[in-house]
Order: sequence, then C-alpha cells, then structure tokens
Amino acid sequence: MNRPSTLLLVLITTLVFAQPPAPSISTQAQRGMALVLQQCAACHGARLEGRYGPPLSGPHFLGRWGGRGAEELRRYILTRMPLGRAGSLSQEQTLDLLAYLLQANGVLHAETLNLEALPKLVLPRP
Ligand code: HEC
Repeated sequence: MNRPSTLLLVLITTLVFAQPPAPSISTQAQRGMALVLQQCAACHGARLEGRYGPPLSGPHFLGRWGGRGAEELRRYILTRMPLGRAGSLSQEQTLDLLAYLLQANGVLHAETLNLEALPKLVLPRP
C-alpha cells in the first residue's frame, strides 16, 4: 500500500471511530420518559394512563396499535403530536418517545432504536 492511501485509511478510521456511540434503547427510553413528563403528561397522564388524551400503554392502546408497525407510530407522533404543537418534535426526540412507548408496552427487541430498526418492529396485539 502506498503512503497516501495509508494516510487516507488512517483518516477514515479515525473519523469512523470518532462518532459518538449510538445510545442504547434504555437511554433513549429514559430521555423519552422525561419528554413525556414535559410535553405529553398533561393530556396522556404521567404514567401514560390517559387523561384528556387516550392512554399510550396497556390494552386500550394496543387494541388500537397492536399489529401495526413502530414506523407508523413514529410518523404519527412526529406529524400529529403534541396536539396543538404538531411538528415541534425533532427526529431524535420522536425516537426517544417511541422507545419509551415501546418499553411501556413490552416491546424492546432492538439495541438502539434507529430508522433502520423500525420497519422490523411490530406492536403486539393485547
Ligand atoms: C393537548 C393535549 C395533548 C398533548 C400535549 C399530547 N397529546 Fe397525544 N393525543 C391527544 C389526543 C386528544 C389524542 C387523540 C387523537 C386526536 O384527537 O388527534 C392523542 C393521540 C395520541 C396518540 C395516538 C393514541 C391512539 O390511541 O391512537 C399518540 C401515540 C400520542 N397522542 C402521543 C403523544 C405524545 C408522544 C405526546 C407528547 C410529545 C403527546 N401525544 C402530546 C392529546 C394530546
């Protein structure tokens, strides 16, 4: 291998390993829980039990979302919630919220919840 390509390889390797590690799904879910308390609990309850808005965990929620994909739920949250301020959540916040909702509903199959993992995740029927 000649020198310039060795240097290039070193540079690429450095860049790849300099990326911050992907957060684990439990870190994402913890951040999601904090966000729920700030932005969703007034309508959905601090434990997702429902208030003015419907519950986001348990049989009622899974009765509506069971068998549907996590990607559909992500899009719903991103484009429709929080009610009255739809569109204010970032992609990352939406994934954190989704991680928390999946955890609260007993679905956690991924190491990290990212856009690639979502199409494989389906919510369980109640
Ligand atoms: C101002 C009240 C309000 C806030 C704040 C709010 N929601 Fe909602 N949400 C609702 C209502 C009401 C519905 C029922 C559907 C509708 O009316 O659009 C709903 C529906 C939902 C649903 C679908 C539930 C189902 O049974 O299909 C999800 C998921 C959801 N909200 C997530 C969130 C998340 C996550 C947040 C916080 C980022 C949030 N919501 C903040 C009022 C709210």
